[in-house]
Amino acid sequence: MTGQVEGKVALVTGGASGIGEAVVELLAKESATVIATDVDDLRGPEVVARITKAGGKAIFLEQDVTSEERWVEIAAEIAKRYGRLDVLVANAGIGIAVPSIVDMTLADWRKQNAVNLDGVFLSVKHCLPLMRKIGGGSIIMMSSLAGLRGAPGLSAYSATKGGVRLFAKSIAMECAGAGDGIRVNSVHPGIIDTPIWGKIPTSAAGNQGNAPIDPEERAKLATPLARAGQAAEIASGVLYLASDASRYVTGTELVIDGGMNAGSAPRRA
Ligand SMILES: NC(=O)c1ccc[n+]([C@@H]2O[C@H](COP(=O)([O-])OP(=O)(O)OC[C@H]3O[C@@H](n4cnc5c(N)ncnc54)[C@H](O)[C@@H]3O)[C@@H](O)[C@H]2O)c1
Repeated sequence: MTGQVEGKVALVTGGASGIGEAVVELLAKESATVIATDVDDLRGPEVVARITKAGGKAIFLEQDVTSEERWVEIAAEIAKRYGRLDVLVANAGIGIAVPSIVDMTLADWRKQNAVNLDGVFLSVKHCLPLMRKIGGGSIIMMSSLAGLRGAPGLSAYSATKGGVRLFAKSIAMECAGAGDGIRVNSVHPGIIDTPIWGKIPTSAAGNQGNAPIDPEERAKLATPLARAGQAAEIASGVLYLASDASRYVTGTELVIDGGMNAGSAPRRA
C-alpha cells in the first residue's frame, strides 16, 4: 500500500466491474477508505473481499443509482459510518446501441438517460452536502470520448455523456463560486476493454443480429496507439483527480483514449 489518497473516504458507483472495479482497487491500494456501490450484488462483494484480504479498506453497498430513495440511504450510511466524504466517482453507466436512431424506443432512451444522467445528478445532489461539511472534496464524473465526439449507433449514450461533460463544468463553477473547496472534473475514456462491450444491447425494437462488439478489434483500427485501453489506465487518471496532486484542477476534461481525440495516425509499417 502507498498513500496518495490516505485519510480520504471515497464513493465509487458501478464499482463491481470494469473501470469502477479498477478505481475501487487503486484507491484502496493508495490507502483510501472506499465505498463501492453497484446493482450487481454478486460481483460487488467479491471485489471488496479481494481488497480487504489484501489489507485495504473497502465496503460494498447495493445501489441502483437511479433511485433517489436509495441515494438518501447511502448518504446517511456514509455519514453514520465515516462522518465524511472526500471523493465521489460517479462512474456507473450503461450503453444502449441501435442500428439507427429511428429504431430507438422511448423506453430505451429514458433508461439510457436514467442511469447515465439522472444517476450522476442524484450522486452530486446527495454527496455534495457531505463534502461541504468537511470543507472540500473531489467529484469525478465518468463521461466518455462519446461525450466529445459523435458516436453512430450510440447517439443516446453520446447525448448522456455530453450532458455529463457540461454538468461537471457547471457544478465545478457552482462550487468554485461558493468557495466550498470542492473540485469537479470529467474523465473521457476511449475504447477500454471492459465487460460493458458485451452488455451493449440493441434496442428492444432494433436488429437482433448484431454480434457482440470486440473492443480490441475496434480499437486496433480506430485508435492511434492501436490497442484498447485497460481499466487500470483509467483508474490512474481518476487517482490523480482524487488526490491532492490535482488541487488546482477543476472544471476540466481528462481524456484517456490512446490518442483518438487528437486525430488519426495511419501506421507506416
Ligand atoms: N469501457 C469503455 O470503453 C468506456 C468508454 C468510455 C466511457 N465508459 C464509461 O465508464 C463507466 C464504466 O463502464 P465500464 O466500461 O467499466 O462498464 P461495466 O459494464 O464493466 O461496469 C459498469 C458497472 O455499472 C453498474 N451499473 C449499471 N447500471 C447501474 C445502476 N443503475 N446503478 C448502479 N450500478 C449500475 C454495472 O452493474 C457495472 O458493474 C460507464 O459510465 C461507461 O459509460 C466506458
